[in-house]
Formats: sequence, structure tokens, C-alpha cells
Amino acid sequence: MIFVNRVDGIEEGIYYFSRKENSLTQIHKGDFSEASKFANCIQDLGKDSAFTINMVSQKPKKEYEYKLLNFEAGIIGEVLYLEAEAKNLRGCGIGCFFDNLITEEILNNVNYLALYGFSVGSPKTDGRIVKLN
Ligand SMILES: Cc1cc2nc3c(=O)[nH]c(=O)nc-3n(C[C@H](O)[C@H](O)[C@H](O)COP(=O)(O)O)c2cc1C
Repeated sequence: MIFVNRVDGIEEGIYYFSRKENSLTQIHKGDFSEASKFANCIQDLGKDSAFTINMVSQKPKKEYEYKLLNFEAGIIGEVLYLEAEAKNLRGCGIGCFFDNLITEEILNNVNYLALYGFSVGSPKTDGRIVKLN
């Protein structure tokens, strides 16, 4: 699930990207940045980003699958960190989110499991951080 808050050329709203079908579908139109903040543990990074992703999967049937799903979500997060930097943006992993809000309330699917979140946006430089080079 992707909260598109401010991305040139893409209407703001909530989108669902299916990896299986390689398709992006808009499921809600409008400004959902507050919902994105709330769903992600009331953290500003949900709202202030260009877009925020909440990765979900079908609930695993076997216990070991839970571990594999988390590995996969983590790898996707690392790719997003690198891709964001490569495009002169920044990313931030989100490990704190309200599972049921994402799966049951927004995606309306009790069989989904929320795994990991990620926000991407323009960096705000903290001048107090000293550069060594
Ligand atoms: C799995 C994972 C979950 C994270 N969850 C959050 C989060 O919920 N909120 C947040 O502000 N940062 C989150 N972060 C980002 C970290 O707080 C931190 O900024 C990042 O690991 C970089 O560390 P550094 O800034 O000390 O180099 C997460 C990072 C990872 C890898």
C-alpha cells in the first residue's frame, strides 16, 4: 500500500501495488497524509514524505514463512534506501505502525499481515550534524 502525499505527476491518494500482477491501482483519492502519519505510529515521517509505503502480505500458513516474509520486506527496504539516495532523495524504514489499521481498516482484508513500512522524500538537513569531510 502506498500513501502518495506529494509526487509530481501522480495524483495524491492511497494506492495498492500488486507485485504479482505488477500493477498499481489507486484505491482512495485525496490527501491521506494524516492517515499515513497515524497509521505509522503517529510519526511525522508518514505525513511529510513524498510517499510512504506499508508492505503487506497474505498471512503465512507456516511459522517459518513469517521469517522469510520479513527477510523479503527488509531487502525491499534496503533497495528503497539505495534507490532514494541514488535519486538524491532520502528514505527511512518504518518499523512502528498500527497493523490492523493498515490491513483491516484501509485495505479491508483480515487475511493480510502488515510487515514493514518505508518513507521516501526530500531530505531536511540538520545543521547541528557535523560533517567530517
Ligand atoms: C527495520 C527498521 C525500522 C525502522 N523504523 C523506524 C521508525 O518506525 N521510525 C523512525 O523514525 N525511524 C525508523 N527507522 C530508521 C532508524 O531510526 C534510523 O534512522 C536508521 O536506521 C539510520 O540510522 P542512523 O540515522 O543512526 O544512521 C527504522 C530503520 C529500520 C532499518
